[in-house]
Amino acid sequence: MIKIITYGTYDLLHQGHINLLRRAKELGDYLIVGVTSDSFDRGRGKLNVRNNVLERVEAVKATGYADEVIIEDYVGQKIDDIQKYNIDIFAIGSDWEGKFDYLNEFTKVVYLPRTEGISSTMLRAETTTDVRIGIIGCGRVARRFPAEAEVVSGLKILATYDINQTEAECLASNVEGVKACCSIEELYDAVDAVYIATPHLSHYQYIKNAIHAGKHVLCETPLVLKGEEAKELFALAEEKNVILMEANKTAHCPAFNHLMVMIKSGVIGEVVDIEASLSKLWDDQKSLREFDPNQAGGSLYELGSYPLLPIIRLLGCQYENLNLYSRMKNGVDMYTKGVMRYPHAVCSFKVGLGVKTEGNLVISGTKGYAYVPAPWWKTDYFELRYEDQNKNQKFFYKWDGAGLRYEIQEFISCILNKRFSTSRLRRRESICMAEVMEQFTNRINFMEI
Ligand code: CTP
Repeated sequence: MIKIITYGTYDLLHQGHINLLRRAKELGDYLIVGVTSDSFDRGRGKLNVRNNVLERVEAVKATGYADEVIIEDYVGQKIDDIQKYNIDIFAIGSDWEGKFDYLNEFTKVVYLPRTEGISSTMLRAETTTDVRIGIIGCGRVARRFPAEAEVVSGLKILATYDINQTEAECLASNVEGVKACCSIEELYDAVDAVYIATPHLSHYQYIKNAIHAGKHVLCETPLVLKGEEAKELFALAEEKNVILMEANKTAHCPAFNHLMVMIKSGVIGEVVDIEASLSKLWDDQKSLREFDPNQAGGSLYELGSYPLLPIIRLLGCQYENLNLYSRMKNGVDMYTKGVMRYPHAVCSFKVGLGVKTEGNLVISGTKGYAYVPAPWWKTDYFELRYEDQNKNQKFFYKWDGAGLRYEIQEFISCILNKRFSTSRLRRRESICMAEVMEQFTNRINFMEI
C-alpha cells in the first residue's frame, strides 16, 4: 500500500484545495492530511485564519479524499509523522517548490501543480470589508499600533485624532492612506471603530462619545478607574450594539492563554496562591504624566491591570478582601503591593515605577506550581514544576512584535462575530480591575509605607 501525506491550513476550503487533495490521493492508496492547529498557525504569524481547526478538519473530511486527518501542531512534526505513519510520498502544492526538499532524506517529495487564480488569502480579502479604524490619542502608545495592525487582516486604519493636531499629523504621515482629522466628529465620519490611547482620565468620556456615535471601541488599559463607569460603558455598548474591549496585551497573548487554560484544567491542582510582579523604573524628572497625581499617574493605575489579570482570570472577581500598601511620592504611588484574600486562596501583586522588583509570576497549587520568568507579561516561556522533578515541563512560544497584534485580532474577530465579551478578558474582569483602581483612589484598606 502506498501512503501519502500532505499538509495545509485549508481555511475557507476552495477548489484549489480539492484539486490538490485529489491529485495527492491519486499518487497512491492511502492519504493522510495534516491540518494546522489554531495555535500553530498563530505561532507562525498566520493571524488571519477564518475557520477554526474543527471547521477546517470537517471541510477536509467532506472532500472525501482524506483517509485520515491529523493535526499539525509543531515545527518538525512532518519528519516525525513520515516515520510514524510509514509514509511513501510527501505531497504539497507547487507554490512550495524546493521548500521541502529536506524531507527527501525520509521519503519521496512530490510537488503537485497548484490551481491558479485561487487561494484562501484571496477569499479572505474578497469576503470581508475591512473594519475602518480611527486612532484617538497619538502619543507614545499609539505609535506602536499601525505596525501591529498591519499583520492582522480585516481592518484598515484611516484616520487619527489628537487634541494636539501636530501629533495626529505626525502619526498619520507615517501610515499610508491615513488622514489626520481636525475634529473628533470628522474622525467618526470616516471610521467604524476607534482605538483610544489617550491619558487614563480621558478614557471614560472618549469611550462614551464613541459608543454614542455608534463606533466599536478598543481602549488602552486601564479602561477606566471606577467600577460603576466600567459597568455603565459595557451596558451602553451592548445597548448600542457595538463592541467595547480593554486593550490588555497580556490577556490576548497565546502563551499566557495557554497557561491559563492549562491551570484551569487542573495541571497544578487547586490554585492556592498567586504572586505577580511588574516594575518599570521611570525617570520621574523626564516623564510628566506617569508621575502627575492630576493625570492619574502612579504605579497602580499605570501597571496594575497586568498583575491583576492572572489573579482575576484564575480566581475570579469575588475576592473577600484587598489590602493595599504603597510608597508615595508627590501624591503618586512609586510602588504598591496588594494582598487579595479569596475564600480558599491568597494572592499578592507588586507594581513599581520607582522600585525595582523581580518581575515574575508564580502560581502555586496543591499539586505543583507554574513559574513564568520576567517579563511574564510578554509570556513566551513558562514552566510547570512538581515535587517529582521528572514531571517538570517547560513550554516555549514566540512573542511577535510588540504583542498588540493579538488584541487587535480579537477585537476584529469580536466585531465580525458580534461577540460583546471575549473569554480572554471578560467584561466583569475589566469591571473588577476598575474597582481595584477605585479602592486605591478612595484609600480604602490602604496603608502608606
Ligand atoms: N493549494 C493549491 N492550489 C491553490 C491553493 C492551495 O494546490 N490555489 C495547495 C497548497 O499548495 C497546499 C494545500 O493546497 O498544498 C493547502 O494550502 P493552504 O496554505 O491551506 O492554502 P492557500 O489557499 O494557499 O492558503 P493561504 O492563501 O492562506 O496561503
